[in-house]
Amino acid sequence: MDSIIVTGNGPLKGQIPIAGAKNACLTLMPATLLSEEPLTLTNAPRLSDIRTMTQLLQSLGAEVTSMQDGKVLAMSSHDIHNHTADYDIVRKMRASILVLGPMLARDGHAVVSLPGGCAIGARPVDLHLKALEAMGAELDLREGYVHAKAPGGLKGGIVDFPFVSVGATENALMAATLAKGTTVLKNAAREPEIVDLAQCLRKMGAQIEGEGTSTITIQGVDRLHGATHPVVTDRIELGTYMLAPAICGGEVELLGGRIDLVGAFCEKLDAAGIGIEETALGLKVTRGNGRVRAVDVTTEPFPGFPTDLQAQMMALLCTAEGVSVLEEKIFENRFMHAPELMRMGAKIDVHGGTARVTGVDRLKGAPVMATDLRASVSLILAGLAAEGETIVNRVYHLDRGYERVEEKLGAVGARIERVSGR
Ligand code: UD1
Repeated sequence: MDSIIVTGNGPLKGQIPIAGAKNACLTLMPATLLSEEPLTLTNAPRLSDIRTMTQLLQSLGAEVTSMQDGKVLAMSSHDIHNHTADYDIVRKMRASILVLGPMLARDGHAVVSLPGGCAIGARPVDLHLKALEAMGAELDLREGYVHAKAPGGLKGGIVDFPFVSVGATENALMAATLAKGTTVLKNAAREPEIVDLAQCLRKMGAQIEGEGTSTITIQGVDRLHGATHPVVTDRIELGTYMLAPAICGGEVELLGGRIDLVGAFCEKLDAAGIGIEETALGLKVTRGNGRVRAVDVTTEPFPGFPTDLQAQMMALLCTAEGVSVLEEKIFENRFMHAPELMRMGAKIDVHGGTARVTGVDRLKGAPVMATDLRASVSLILAGLAAEGETIVNRVYHLDRGYERVEEKLGAVGARIERVSGR
């Protein structure tokens, strides 16, 4: 199993290109199942989660060809011969549930394994299932699988989500494009990845209004056609790399960065004393001398502060002047990075969904364990600012969501290397 070794050093300087969004790509890929014609995605990220979704789609009979070193994914679902998403693939990645809505909408039946437990909380899929039921799906849960049928096809309906779910909004949105009549999604997620999905579906011939707001209206059509679509910039990768100079000083330009993708996050960085400037190529982040200021952070659905940047923000606040309070409102049990940061000298008290971080002058390098995707990168960020060497073990989580992290950070002057088999 690979480890990453980071040695804390001085200011970073240079540019980091930001990839296409993992979470957008993971919902755009299953959209291929809605049409018999090809769907091509450009600006795709090179990540193990994308390879897992590729395997899943291929297991159903879709053709997925990775081109230009993985940046282009050419897909065709002309011949879907298997309608069962197997546990062996689904258990690796929760986003696998996103094949359910499209398969059901196109062919009237699908069987998908339930994703099972996850390190950052229970994460059920009940909202996905209720949304499809509101469109006339008949569902049966047997032996860990959802058996879904819609013999006469899905029908438009009103889906009123009791709380915001990104994945359930995506599944329902895709399914509704081929349902008969009008579907209204209320309390829908407003994330940029939903907007990206709606834009792609519209290119495929879907009739959608209201994406990016809490109410999305979809007028079902008989069929969708092929399209080519660029994956939106990864706002979580963007925020993560914005934190690198924020943590250890310097000036780094994030190529492709857009402020509208990370508005709430930028407000907090600004309050902490970090400079952010829009440039012709993206966003430039600058940190001068002196400590950053403590800030309070509460995670919320978009446009609020993203839960997927909470761990990385905590790494910054570990060395801020004063006490910061971080509240995690999206997932239970998403502070597993806190004990690892404490191994590096951070002062953190966790009570339920709240973490109180008292800033210290400097963190100290230590061997630490990556517990999930965002936690792993938060430890790398902390290592950039720590005295001495930090060894981040179990980095396979990292490869699910960050392409070539050591190359990207190394290019701006970080001392970081990957070691195999530790
Ligand atoms: C997506 C993102 C993930 C991000 C999360 C929140 C992908 C592939 N992943 O995950 O990186 O952290 O949004 O921004 O896009 N819930 C239920 N029942 C459901 C569905 C969700 O109770 O049927 C709960 C979840 O346990 C969680 C909350 O709702 O507490 C929000 O989850 P959701 O927005 O659905 O997250 P994902 O789509 O899984």
